[in-house]
Amino acid sequence: MLAGKRVTLIIGGGIAAYKCLDLIRQLRRAGAQVTPVLTRAATEFVTPLSIAALAGEQVYQHLFDLKDEAEMGHIQLSRQSDLLVVAPATANMMAKMAGGLADDLATTLLLATDKPILIAPAMNLRMWEHPATQRNLAQLRADGVGVIGPDSGDMACGEFGPGRMSEPHAILAAIAAKLRAGPLAGKRVLVTSGPTHEPIDPVRYIANRSSGAQGAAIAAALRDLGAEVVFVTGPATAPAPEGVVLHKVETAREMLDAVEAALPADAAIFAAAVADWRVENSSHQKLKKTKHGAPELIFAQNPDILATVAAHAVRPALVVGFAAETEQVIAHAQAKLARKGCDWIVANDVSPATGIMGGAENAVHLITRDGVEDWPRMPKHEVAQRLALRIAEALR
Ligand code: C5P
Repeated sequence: MLAGKRVTLIIGGGIAAYKCLDLIRQLRRAGAQVTPVLTRAATEFVTPLSIAALAGEQVYQHLFDLKDEAEMGHIQLSRQSDLLVVAPATANMMAKMAGGLADDLATTLLLATDKPILIAPAMNLRMWEHPATQRNLAQLRADGVGVIGPDSGDMACGEFGPGRMSEPHAILAAIAAKLRAGPLAGKRVLVTSGPTHEPIDPVRYIANRSSGAQGAAIAAALRDLGAEVVFVTGPATAPAPEGVVLHKVETAREMLDAVEAALPADAAIFAAAVADWRVENSSHQKLKKTKHGAPELIFAQNPDILATVAAHAVRPALVVGFAAETEQVIAHAQAKLARKGCDWIVANDVSPATGIMGGAENAVHLITRDGVEDWPRMPKHEVAQRLALRIAEALR
């Protein structure tokens, strides 16, 4: 995914620095070459030796280190990479960057570079919310610096709120999106995928046969065109692609929550096979066999996630649904387009004779408000690539 890309990773002095060990591992697995730079404070949290071992490269620390300068001048170091990433970006680091200070190797590299910069802030929530930090953040954004996170949650300092550094996989996704000059660079796309599991009791559930293969392929194709992809998936058998922001859910209602939390987005693709019903009287204890016969399950309608987003106050510019039908494929799909308020429907015939459900190929019709396109039968990943290109055209 990032083969041939060179990332300079500037590790700041915060407790989240430990997450950089995993980030380096993930970057290298994705094919990137990582040049690590540690601030003085960072060495209080991670050791140069562990960073060097994982990166497989020399760690740079000091501005006036003659050996370093002889081998690689700091200007060259700042320009040889495709992207500079600051993780964790502390309040102090953000302040220095916003003010243009250059008093150590990390800040000098950041000032001397002509390459894009991405920061992953991490700090105590009061420091994050402080007007000075927010001012610096606005300045950095205005200067073209990309920002990923921070997330909300329990903090190492014992408080709860925004300030946690984004997880390595989310930083990797942001790096992938920033590095690709593809037609979807700078666009944020939401994809749902997989089945949902609706519990009957703690050990039993209602599910369907969706493998999640088509949704995962679409997410990967959008990522490869440069999009930042938020991938909300039920318990699928197909693995989630790397380099996407992954949210795993079980039930339809959890999927809706994750989808709404991911808005705003430029486009949303609903490839999930969401259960239409859940068991309203699901049991907190495992149901037992009794002499009174089989338990009676009462069903309740699940929210329609696609229809909810299509009518949302922050509706994505392009909303795409899927229609798996076994008869009158096009007529049913056209009715669905109107009923759900989406822009496109990708319709396919899933009657058992087609072998599409759970298979490697798909034959789809793309239904838009302007008409119907019949696509030939092709592998699911090619359907995904073609759809991703159409999405890129539509968002242009
Ligand atoms: O109504 P039907 O299930 O056939 O609609 C299929 C489309 O609607 C798919 O895009 C699916 O992901 C989406 N959907 C949804 N939430 C539901 C049911 C379907 O997002 N509860």
